[in-house]
Amino acid sequence: MAKNIFISNALPQEAVGLIPKDFTLDYNDTDSPLSKTELVSRLKGKDGLVCHIISTIDDEVLAAVPTLRVVANVAVGYNNIDVAAAKRRGVTVTNTPDVLTETTADFAWTLLMATARRIVEADHYARSGRWTAWKWDLLWGADIHGKTLGIVGFGRIGRAVARRALGFRMRVLYHDAVKADAAVERELSATATDLETLLREADFVTLHTNLTPETRHLIGKRTLRLMRPSAVLVNAARGPIVDEAALAQALGEGWIAGAGLDVFEEEPKIHPDLLPLQNVVLAPHIASASRDTRIAMATLAVRNCVAVLEGKPPITPVA
Ligand code: GLV
Repeated sequence: MAKNIFISNALPQEAVGLIPKDFTLDYNDTDSPLSKTELVSRLKGKDGLVCHIISTIDDEVLAAVPTLRVVANVAVGYNNIDVAAAKRRGVTVTNTPDVLTETTADFAWTLLMATARRIVEADHYARSGRWTAWKWDLLWGADIHGKTLGIVGFGRIGRAVARRALGFRMRVLYHDAVKADAAVERELSATATDLETLLREADFVTLHTNLTPETRHLIGKRTLRLMRPSAVLVNAARGPIVDEAALAQALGEGWIAGAGLDVFEEEPKIHPDLLPLQNVVLAPHIASASRDTRIAMATLAVRNCVAVLEGKPPITPVA
């Protein structure tokens, strides 16, 4: 049986090199997202797709490519894919869990610490020539150790974030539709709570939920109003979980103290009201972007695609 793969954007050679010689490969070796028309036209007659989150695989795309058997997303999140439609059409969808858990948790902490200790402002100040004498009240930030961390979404990444909080001797609250086992709660010293209590009590709130209709704008005017004026919000999950306009207002008017954001509602656009604010640290969706992890994600996605086309079970199918 023919095995034709389309890779819709650039991937490291470590991953592309895993495609067996008897497969046919069409490869868009660039970082530019393809339009839906280009995507469908390149996908025509293909059996497998390896794609990034910048490709939207909706029912229209799936309907236009009836030969497709597998969509391998190079990401743990898969809100760019209509999984229900894929299932209906017998297309396997895979993602890249586990390999990015620790790296993403590291980065959530990077944002948390950078925001709390104002490291971006400090860097700009140190370079600016304005630093003429040591000043005892220069760039005061917030302590992290001993404070309360609120984790919204207590899956793999949320738990890895909690594990790091042990070293900071923090009180950890979490909110998730599924309560963790008592042993996990004990190991991570984490307590389940409702969202409102978490938002009211946490000094740091970090988001690690999937983007679903239920979590879209979970953090908006109402929920931001529940947070402490000294609180910091971290989002390294998906942009639309936060209502960016409401967040910009909250940061501008001091409802909360700061935010560290890796993801945005309409990437690569950032809400213009966030850009002038000093109390927000912005990153261009790089939470999993360590060299090792990005290569591990890409190789896992290719291995998933190849497995399905060789008639084997996918390694990490989307549930
Ligand atoms: C990145 O955003 C991912 O979901 O892996």
